[in-house]
Amino acid sequence: METSLIDPFQRAVTYLRVSVTDRCDFRCVYCMSENMTFLPKKELLTLEELDRMCTAFISQGVRKLRITGGEPLVRRGIMSFFGSISRHIDSGALDELTLTTNGSQLARFADDLAAAGVRRVNISLDTLDDEKFARVTRWGRLAQVLKGVDAAQNAGLRVKINAVALRGFNEEELFSMTEWAASRDMDMTWIEVMPMGDMGDTDRIGQYWPLTDVRAQLAQRYTLVDLAERTGGPARYVRLEETGQKVGFITPLSHNFCESCNRVRLTCTGELFMCLGQEDRADLRAALRDHPDDDRPLIEAIHQAIAHKPKGHDFDYSRQNVAGQMSRHMSHTGG
Ligand code: GTP
Ligand code: 5AD
Ligand code: SF4
Repeated sequence: METSLIDPFQRAVTYLRVSVTDRCDFRCVYCMSENMTFLPKKELLTLEELDRMCTAFISQGVRKLRITGGEPLVRRGIMSFFGSISRHIDSGALDELTLTTNGSQLARFADDLAAAGVRRVNISLDTLDDEKFARVTRWGRLAQVLKGVDAAQNAGLRVKINAVALRGFNEEELFSMTEWAASRDMDMTWIEVMPMGDMGDTDRIGQYWPLTDVRAQLAQRYTLVDLAERTGGPARYVRLEETGQKVGFITPLSHNFCESCNRVRLTCTGELFMCLGQEDRADLRAALRDHPDDDRPLIEAIHQAIAHKPKGHDFDYSRQNVAGQMSRHMSHTGG
């Protein structure tokens, strides 16, 4: 089916990211503050309501669903959601059902995810050093995540590693992480750190490691071949000829990719954020709850929201200050 969700800039919205919880078992320093206040449970959409929301988007032409959080796998009962939403994979209405996870719960859930039609997962992992991992996630343990990576691969899931590029933190691991990922037949994506969430004294500009530099460093050791292929996400990929693996770059700061944006974000309370880097949002929960037996008001609300999708974010570090900052934490909209 052709999508009927076209925004004012003629971009077709075919990718829905769904944050199923704002909670997480880690506290990554660039994502959360140490003392986060989470939403009361009664604010959350139930798993049945999340299913109804996703199904409404799919009926309007969304072809790719990515489940995020917080950490999606800490939401109680989340496997029943995956089990049920997988019917849209079986029917051919959805091309892809996937998730972005910190990996901590994959040892428990990888098999069930594969059974639900998930073919690949993105696992966030910024360092392979125990001590640094504990420092950047505050609450995480590397060994647990590595077990999750094993479990995902054993379950037959394709794994992509997402690393936030952090100056003075994982710079020295560029090659060791690349080689580790290659040795396990995993692709890797580097992400520029974005000014999301008021993180007190976190030094965003000092942390910022432009991917133009990551790419230049990789090019000193490997032959980089630009790939035209797209996953439907924002990453631009190269193949490293020597290892055969794909390396992706997500560059909201050094190269804005908003003109090709195809996605919107649903939060666990039923708000739709039309852009990661803007405040514009629409409340879809009221349309859903006020009409339990009729999806038309919800679908109408979705169309109205898409008609207000902004052109792009305003993140900018180039004038030696942080512009376009969002007070919202990344865990709210799932990155
Ligand atoms: P693939 O399907 O593997 O291409 O995934 P993806 O890149 O769409 O999803 P993933 O969750 O791996 O995204 C990685 C990160 O990219 C997110 O957590 C965000 O930090 C960033 N990102 C994704 N979409 C956008 C976007 O629309 N704008 C901006 N500025 N950043 C984005
Ligand atoms: N900038 C860039 N990426 C971020 N993530 C979380 N916070 C930020 C930020 N401020 C990433 C995580 C994970 C994904 C969900 O979002 O590392 O890969
Ligand atoms: Fe949790 Fe992911 Fe945020 Fe880290 S980046 S605190 S793992 S939601």
